[in-house]
Amino acid sequence: MEKNFKRTLITAALPYANGPVHIGHLAGVYIPSDIYARYLRLRGEEVLFVCGSDEHGVPIAIKAKKEGVTPQDIVDRYDGIIRKSFADFGITFDIYGRTTSATHRELASSIFRTIYDKGGFIEEESEQYYDPEAKQFLADRYITGTCPRCQNERAYGDQCESCGSTLNPTDLIHPKSAISGATPELRKTKHWYLPLDKHEPFLKQWILEDHKEWKSNVYGQCKSWLDGGLQPRAVSRDLDWGIPVPVEGAEGKVLYVWFDAPIGYISSTKEWAEREGKDWRPYWQDSDTQLVHFIGKDNIVFHCIIFPAMLKAEGSFILPANVPANEFLNLEGNKLSTSKNWAVWLHEYLQDFPNQQDVLRYVLTANAPETKDNDFTWKDFQARNNNELVAIFGNFINRVAVLTQKYYEGVVPQADTYNNVDTETLRQITELTEKIEQSLERYRFREAQQEL
Ligand code: MF3
Ligand code: ZN
Repeated sequence: MEKNFKRTLITAALPYANGPVHIGHLAGVYIPSDIYARYLRLRGEEVLFVCGSDEHGVPIAIKAKKEGVTPQDIVDRYDGIIRKSFADFGITFDIYGRTTSATHRELASSIFRTIYDKGGFIEEESEQYYDPEAKQFLADRYITGTCPRCQNERAYGDQCESCGSTLNPTDLIHPKSAISGATPELRKTKHWYLPLDKHEPFLKQWILEDHKEWKSNVYGQCKSWLDGGLQPRAVSRDLDWGIPVPVEGAEGKVLYVWFDAPIGYISSTKEWAEREGKDWRPYWQDSDTQLVHFIGKDNIVFHCIIFPAMLKAEGSFILPANVPANEFLNLEGNKLSTSKNWAVWLHEYLQDFPNQQDVLRYVLTANAPETKDNDFTWKDFQARNNNELVAIFGNFINRVAVLTQKYYEGVVPQADTYNNVDTETLRQITELTEKIEQSLERYRFREAQQEL
């Protein structure tokens, strides 16, 4: 850790409230951020650890439609489940907010407005698919059709999940609206864009020159985005679920979910400050705050490029000191997926292994996907529990307790400084502590646990 900071603000990616959280989320984001927060608190540092539910966006609107309920019903349900899982697993957030809160809505609106008033957006008309039956513009995910590359008939307007190609809605052959089944037509619509290209020189300097110490997976991904050249990015959508775009002539348009979600870190901080009678500003506006974002690798571009560009455009906020993103955890060889229901959900784990949170935290840290994707298997879970926690750690604790009882009447005796074994042991403990601290400060949590 850079030593001359006065306080640390730790953020953990806001989980998307369209499903419960699973072991991949825990391994990639919430355990490492929680270890880091606990470590800094133990050192007596001033720490604030924030998170919350990410409750806007198209997938939530689609899920609601499918179930015949409102989007608010969906996010209320999953926010409750997620919140409980984090509490059950001992994740020590200081505050867990929601992006549907009034504080958040107002703050996201006002940040948009500040950037807008400074001329920080481009306004542009483009042609987009419109559903003439449902009478609404269609988000990319609401359009299905045949993939031009692999002929899969169920490709989406943004992606074909069969061949993995990134698509534009107009690439689809025989496009269909997922809402009504109608053939969509192209119509003109206006949107606001963040001109990332204009921020490129600054981002290049700030990341590629000033933050060479970032994890190589993070630095590498940023470098490839920056080398490829940045394009203006739309920050509004034609959708009826989200925060209304706060300018005239924007009826029916909301902020793009990736515009409002990271602002959730700031609104959570504000809500915490209100609750505690403290000031939120030093955390976001003083250069002596160390801001650290814990995320998974699919979030890197948003936290290292887009959000910093937003903050820079707004003008009064600090930027992250580090973004220790992790790779992915797979489950028994396959990618974890909420939509495909391939996951070990945290609330279900606790039904099968009541009170065994620490076993899972241990295994997920031992196998954390810090430098590459890793695989979670139940065999490995069993082996680490039996061989490491029970046979090694449990046995060690047991012997220490039994022998202390047997030879020292249950009281740990003073070290004998004339005894070489005692002196050497104390020296090793100090040395090991320093080693573990160094690992933790470099975000190498599995190494820290291994040393321990
Ligand atoms: N909900 C996003 C995801 O699950 C993460 C949002 S992080 C935030 O990938 F910064 F936008 F909040
Ligand atoms: Zn395809």
